[in-house]
Formats: sequence, structure tokens, C-alpha cells
Amino acid sequence: MVVNKGYEKAAHLYDIFDNKDNIDFFYRYGKEAGLILDIGAGTGRIAIPLAKRGVKVICIEPSPAMRNEFSQKFKLQPDLSDKITLIAGDVQSFKLTETFPAAFLSGSFDHIPSNERIASLQNINRHLKLEGKLIFDVYIGGMKDSPLSLIDTIKRGDYEYQRFIGTKTLPDKTIEVLLVYKTYKQGKLIEKIEQPSAAVTTSREKVHELLQETGFSIKNEYGDYYFSPFKERDSFLIIEAFKKK
Ligand SMILES: C[S@@+](CC[C@H](N)C(=O)[O-])C[C@H]1O[C@@H](n2cnc3c(N)ncnc32)[C@H](O)[C@@H]1O
Repeated sequence: MVVNKGYEKAAHLYDIFDNKDNIDFFYRYGKEAGLILDIGAGTGRIAIPLAKRGVKVICIEPSPAMRNEFSQKFKLQPDLSDKITLIAGDVQSFKLTETFPAAFLSGSFDHIPSNERIASLQNINRHLKLEGKLIFDVYIGGMKDSPLSLIDTIKRGDYEYQRFIGTKTLPDKTIEVLLVYKTYKQGKLIEKIEQPSAAVTTSREKVHELLQETGFSIKNEYGDYYFSPFKERDSFLIIEAFKKK
């Protein structure tokens, strides 16, 4: 099982740096389906608010550290125990007997190595009901190499959290990503974490081919989480696909 995709060391900081405004986006699908398979569920950032709004969510997450963060949050909300199930597993190989009306894969597709993408989408397809939906997001096009630089500063009481990123593209289009996290308490550095990981960029055409090959049809393509239609120059693509006959 894949356990280190860049989240092991800094899982406790994941929610602090979260700035994605996509809960309402995912809730629209959650409300419609009632039951969601959330793959690469992370810290439960999407699953927990959806469960609070009445959606049942079955979560798959390979990273023990992310699952631990998820469980800690979840423990504080015992009323959600019949709404959320958290399972250790990765997208390529998880195996459940149930099939689902909809699945999410948010922030995770870029981490799947190119040679595992077909098997991963096929495995999701197997877990969907006929015409069941897959909602996933992916960065497309190239990414400029950049030296390590500060991208976020979050202040909370006595604490200041800083996040730095550096990227380098290899000839096979794999992007080596280095994230560095620094935590200061009353101005004194108390934690520094270096977390390397890899991401793989792709093109919209390649994503279309993969979906075609793995039993999906595309219903909608968005360029953001506010349902704006995808435009040719967007570098972020959100796909709503469904399992075809
Ligand atoms: C950017 S986080 C997104 C977490 C959550 N979906 C969210 O939106 O907050 C990416 C997550 O994908 C998980 N992941 C990485 N590779 C994976 C794989 N092969 N199968 C399933 N999940 C994976 C990571 O462990 C991490 O929790």
C-alpha cells in the first residue's frame, strides 16, 4: 500500500493551511447521491462537513498520519459515527463489496503515478453503480520550476505557521515537490519539517483518453469549484464523469 505521498510528516498541519473553498461544491453531489465514496479523503476535510449535513460518506485513505488526523477530529463528533466510515486503502487496490452512486477523488489524482492511473480509474469504476458519478480534480499542463519560496503564513494566537514550496520537473514530467513547514511560537522556531513528494502532470486530452478507456463518459467539466465551465486556458480541471454501460 502507498503510505507516503507527501503527507506523513505534516498531516497535523494540513488543515491549518487548507484554503480550498469547495465544500458547497461537493455537497451538491453529496445531497443528490446521499452516499459518497471519498477516495484520498485525507483529514476528512470534505467528508466531515458533508456528514454533518446528513450525507453518508465511506472514506478511503492510505496515509496513517492523515487517517490519524481524521480520526482525532471525528472522535470529537460522536453523533457522526453512523455517517462516516474510514478505511485504510489506496485508490488502485481498495476493495469493497458495496457499489456507490458517487465517488470523489479530490487533490489525489496528481499523486497517482502514470502507470497506475488506468488501474485506479478501473477500480473506482468497479465500485460505482451504473451511471454512478466520479467527481475529480486534476492540474493540467506544465508547471514552472521554482526555487524554495514562502507561499503561506498563518497566524494563530502565539503561533505562526509558514509553508514553503519548491518544484522541479523531471524529463518524464514527474514533478519533484519539496514542501517545508516552519512553526514559530512567540517568534521562536519550534518545528521544521521537510516533506518531499512527487506529482505527475497531465493534459486534458490524456485525462479524456483515460476515462474513455476505463468505462467513463464525461458529463461536465469545470474550471473552478463554483461550477464555472472549463476554459481552454485553465490549468485546473474538475471533471464530473459517470459510469457508462
Ligand atoms: C491533497 S490531499 C486531499 C485530501 C482530501 N481529499 C481533501 O480534499 O482535503 C491528497 C490525499 O490523497 C491521498 N493519496 C495519495 N495517494 C493516494 C492513492 N494512491 N490512493 C488514495 N489516496 C491517495 C493522500 O494521502 C492525501 O490524503
